[in-house]
Amino acid sequence: MGELIAGHTGKRNRLESAPIQRRTRTVDRHTKAGILCAGIAAPSADNSQPWRFAWSGDDLDLRIDAGRSGGVSDTRYVLSDLAAGACLENMIIHARSLGYVADLQTFPRHEDELWVARIRWRRDPECDQVEPLAGAIEQRHTDRSFPWRGPITTATQARLDAQAREIPGQRLYWPQAPRERKAALGVIRQAETLRFRSPTLHAELFSSIRFATGWHTACEEGLAPATLAVEPPLRPVFQAMRRPAVMTMLNRLGAASVLGWRSAWLPIRLSPGLCLLVIPSTARSDVLAGGRALQRVWLEATLNGLSVQPYAAAGVLSLGFVPVEPAFQQPLSRLGSAMHDLCAPGYGLVFLRFGYARSALRARSGRRAPASFGASP
Ligand SMILES: Cc1cc2nc3c(=O)[nH]c(=O)nc-3n(C[C@H](O)[C@H](O)[C@H](O)COP(=O)(O)O)c2cc1C
Repeated sequence: MGELIAGHTGKRNRLESAPIQRRTRTVDRHTKAGILCAGIAAPSADNSQPWRFAWSGDDLDLRIDAGRSGGVSDTRYVLSDLAAGACLENMIIHARSLGYVADLQTFPRHEDELWVARIRWRRDPECDQVEPLAGAIEQRHTDRSFPWRGPITTATQARLDAQAREIPGQRLYWPQAPRERKAALGVIRQAETLRFRSPTLHAELFSSIRFATGWHTACEEGLAPATLAVEPPLRPVFQAMRRPAVMTMLNRLGAASVLGWRSAWLPIRLSPGLCLLVIPSTARSDVLAGGRALQRVWLEATLNGLSVQPYAAAGVLSLGFVPVEPAFQQPLSRLGSAMHDLCAPGYGLVFLRFGYARSALRARSGRRAPASFGASP
């Protein structure tokens, strides 16, 4: 694809797979380590952290980690590309705050599907841009608690919109009218319900939860139960549901619907803000750009004191290429039509619920050690 993007200003030029030239090094080890830490602080579906880094002088290669990507919901790397976009944006924002700009070549080799970007960092003496978002990189986190207070003012909403639009082609859709909000809630609930009904999606979901860490501690990879906001009396049942036989039995009693209601419908109903990230096409470069926009919106929300929980199942399943059992193909195509009615033109990919939390978050997801991402500066 060979596309060069300067910083996040949206200027794009074609680049004919340019050979990477040798240059003098300008980025010191400390700065490189800081850039990687900023990238690793990004969110990823199920806290999979599917990133690999490699330095070559001042150039940094960002790749998708083959061992932590490509699961059922990550068909065509949609979730990994979103996480890569968020990681990229964190690094760009952090570097800009230190006076570096990024020349970005996305998907440099068409045949190498895991190679997401090559970033050339250069010092820009004229870069005196203040980067307020940089201050939110370490604070940003997922909050699954509820209820949350509001309202979210139109000024705050406009700031979030503006951050999404910083990345060309990206936008937020806010279901405002009761009819729109009802439709949005409907698709999210259907998708979350499917995650418990389909054996394939159920296995994927529960394999990412690290029950061995218990209900009070964080873990450095995957989802710690402590971050899931499951009420104490329900924890033993939730834990038992990881067994397919138990889930199947409980589904006969309507468990999947109840879980869809509890995990999505209720928290969203009790949150003052809901929006949907809409990308212009499902090309990987647009999904990557969507991840960058997602991260800018999330950082801005953090600066504004807002809690955020993303919901990606509705968007990803509605794209129509996640291979679920034949029995669930029809609900999937209904989901696709409903999402299209909601936000066309474009593809709704990730819902975000917002609000002001009543109390501080108890547990946050951890990260693996930087060395495990493959890069030594
Ligand atoms: C592409 C993407 C999809 C996500 N989907 C969901 C989701 O459907 N539900 C949810 O509760 N969190 C979702 N998350 C949040 C991740 O689980 C979270 O980022 C990860 O566990 C790391 O935690 P942190 O955000 O607190 O650093 C998603 C994040 C990303 C980047």
